[in-house]
Amino acid sequence: MKYSRLLFLFLIPLMFMGCKKDKNHPGYNYMGKHDMYYSKYYKAYSPNPVFKDGMTNQLPVEGTVARGKIPFPYKGATIGDRAMNQSLAGMELLNPLTASDEVNKVGKKQYDIFCKTCHGTEAKGDGYLYTSKLFPAKPTSLVESYVQNKPDGEIYYVITMGSISGLMGPHGSQVTPENRWKIIHYLRHLAN
Ligand code: HEC
Repeated sequence: MKYSRLLFLFLIPLMFMGCKKDKNHPGYNYMGKHDMYYSKYYKAYSPNPVFKDGMTNQLPVEGTVARGKIPFPYKGATIGDRAMNQSLAGMELLNPLTASDEVNKVGKKQYDIFCKTCHGTEAKGDGYLYTSKLFPAKPTSLVESYVQNKPDGEIYYVITMGSISGLMGPHGSQVTPENRWKIIHYLRHLAN
């Protein structure tokens, strides 16, 4: 006991020896032999002997769904495949959002940006691109029964992949999944 304080006094300078003014040098460490100080790691793009494909960066497991993303497996190319996929999407995809003023407000904003030029202010199929004859194909009215009778998933398919015929192009790369559903709520709201 008598010497414990003395021992303590002796240890303090030892601790300070670990500090160095030179910021590029980490100073001494007293457990340098141990793995926790010098753990082995592989940089993201370096070769890696641990994995079968020899790469450090690994792809996510097949079937992984990124947070906030809804899987969209409806990707056929022929008209027949597209028609089948549109009705499949109509049966399988449900609008994850419930209608509200807030949802409609965002839906309107997105509609005005991405759809209004063709489909018109009130979605009657009379947008400027069509009436000015700059765009030759007649856009469908989105407020009449033909579209309004479609389930949300079919409209979602059209926004994502374009119309079956291809006369309307896909908007999947421009409108986020969430905003596609909001546009659909807004279209239901417009029609009422
Ligand atoms: C460049 C012009 C253009 C833009 C922009 C556009 N559409 Fe269209 N849309 C069309 C045309 C043309 C058709 C008719 C296509 C056809 O009959 O194949 C159509 C058809 C549709 C249909 C009916 C598809 C069917 O199954 O018959 C829906 C629903 C639709 N559009 C929704 C939208 C929405 C929502 C947006 C905005 C995200 C949008 N469109 C943006 C031109 C456009």
